[in-house]
Amino acid sequence: MRPPKYFRMTDYDRSLLPNPVLRKLEKEATSEADWVQTTGLSPGHPAWGIIYHVLLACLHPSGENTIVETGTNWGSSTIVLAQAIRDAGRGGRVHTIELDAANHKKAKNRVEKAGLSDLVSFYLGASEDVLPALARDLPSVRFAYLDGGHGVRTVMTEFEAIEPKLTHGALVLLDNTYPIAEAGEEARVSEALKQIVEQFGGNVVNLPFVSWYTPGLALWQRESLNLYEGLGV
Ligand SMILES: C[S@@+](CC[C@H](N)C(=O)[O-])C[C@H]1O[C@@H](n2cnc3c(N)ncnc32)[C@H](O)[C@@H]1O
Repeated sequence: MRPPKYFRMTDYDRSLLPNPVLRKLEKEATSEADWVQTTGLSPGHPAWGIIYHVLLACLHPSGENTIVETGTNWGSSTIVLAQAIRDAGRGGRVHTIELDAANHKKAKNRVEKAGLSDLVSFYLGASEDVLPALARDLPSVRFAYLDGGHGVRTVMTEFEAIEPKLTHGALVLLDNTYPIAEAGEEARVSEALKQIVEQFGGNVVNLPFVSWYTPGLALWQRESLNLYEGLGV
């Protein structure tokens, strides 16, 4: 792997964070050593704000707002997603998948403390196993945040599972786009984005200077010029 890069910010006004639990956890974080002890492997600021506001703006007034997250970790991003659903008041639910049992348990506790448990369903297992079956049962997917395993095969399995269920204007966010894999190593999110566009079309907006080890947060959306056709508003 190439050396990691770090663009997570630490010097900012904590009142920008959307939930008091995150504000408290983030209060003392001024370095990587701090934040891995507090909010886990989350992308931090300003990614949390981006995820929060983009989801807030993406939620459909009809209330058909199913959110999928892979890589719950300790629940920091789950809190951001669920808080956006709460604040928008348009209805919705987060379905979040985590591989590691200890992370899954910790995340459940954190989300409970954040007062958002009623908006979240937690799944324990590998996204490659859990998501295809889960997605088949979901009525649709309005928004997905893919931040579990970052190898190209995992990301493509996740994407292919949700793609048939994406509603008009749905967004898929992918963390860690910086191309860190070297020759001979499994390609990662940047390669998955190329394959997604080749196979499914759509557009990518990449924000290279957010997040950390490794940075880069991308937004993918299928629709390009037929922006309102089929949106149902
Ligand atoms: C970068 S962390 C996620 C951070 C979290 N989204 C946040 O922002 O707070 C990645 C998480 O994905 C989990 N993970 C790794 N591979 C996975 C897989 N195949 N399926 C589900 N979870 C996975 C790891 O155990 C880890 O907790």
